[in-house]
Amino acid sequence: MRSLMNPLDLSVEEIDELIDTANDIIENPADYFEKCKGKKLAVLFYEPSTRTRLSFEAAMYELGGEVLGFSEANSSSAAKGESVSDTAKTVSCYADIIAMRHPLEGAPYVASRAGSIPVINAGDGGHNHPTQTLADLLTISREKGRLNDLTIGFCGDLKFGRTVHSLITALSRYTGIRVVLISPDELKLPGYIRRDVLEKNDIPYTQTEDLVSSIPELDILYMTRIQGERFSDRDEYNRLKDSYILTTDKLEGAKSDLAVMHPLPRVNEISIAVDDDPRACYFKQVRNGKYIRMALILKLLGLSKSKHEIIEQTDKSVYVKNILTCKNPRCISSCEQELAHIFKLTDPEAGVCRCIYCEAIADKRFDYIAGEVIKA
Ligand code: CP
Repeated sequence: MRSLMNPLDLSVEEIDELIDTANDIIENPADYFEKCKGKKLAVLFYEPSTRTRLSFEAAMYELGGEVLGFSEANSSSAAKGESVSDTAKTVSCYADIIAMRHPLEGAPYVASRAGSIPVINAGDGGHNHPTQTLADLLTISREKGRLNDLTIGFCGDLKFGRTVHSLITALSRYTGIRVVLISPDELKLPGYIRRDVLEKNDIPYTQTEDLVSSIPELDILYMTRIQGERFSDRDEYNRLKDSYILTTDKLEGAKSDLAVMHPLPRVNEISIAVDDDPRACYFKQVRNGKYIRMALILKLLGLSKSKHEIIEQTDKSVYVKNILTCKNPRCISSCEQELAHIFKLTDPEAGVCRCIYCEAIADKRFDYIAGEVIKA
């Protein structure tokens, strides 16, 4: 059984294979009409969604399967206090695969550990959104013909934008990638992604607040919404919400083959007039999202012909349980009291540990000889 939490759970070869399958589905949809006959997808959405939920549902229907689930926490027993673990164990009795969106970071991971069927992270708080990343990679591949040698500008809310975090992480494995980070100072890309992803992989990047002067060098402009729902201070949100509005005028200095992307929903960060520009790709991203999710469902259910065998890697990492406490208030382990706090020793020499759910770094160094050590 295999789940998808983070884009790096898939190898580059597996992502290539998913893109190939999605392209084949686009060319030959009838070949896939019955591939998931008799299978059920559970969509467990604790947070609003239009594209992700409906594209998962459309994907499963177009594969001949069935769909069940809920679209808000209040219509499930979460409203009565049921944990994510118990929900996952329950749904494992009814379905073959789960797609879960949750406002807390790490919640789909908790479900994948508790349940007995594959779980797909359909967005967990400000953490990750790997299936949006797959849709983005399919779009880049179809629009540019490559995933290497690209200068990509990320603009808007780079702090809370989980699609940005996941796409940068995924692109870190390709060559010739340059990144331009365009945001207000308050919404800069988190330091752990700059250090652990960009710097660790020698990816050149610049940080700026200026969209217009950045546009001419870009092959891809990835616009994002300022994520109002993640702000604790409404005044700060109101001050920052209109930081960037892409208009046709601002595109005058852009390359003729620029791809303008946006995971959507947009609020007003791209003016409607830009939709008519042939460089606008965001509704193609929406369509591609359905096809790549079809490919992913087939893969995780073991129904696609794969040249790449799924090899379960033996995890030799050291984990510490209930010794360190996750201080991230948006982490599932901060909110569900019965969950163990488990940290992975990611840098043994420095004693640095990360929460296994949300990846936050522990605020204490850890000598693992001193504590209870468990292996996952
Ligand atoms: N891109 C995306 O995740 O959209 P939804 O929130 O509508 O699912």
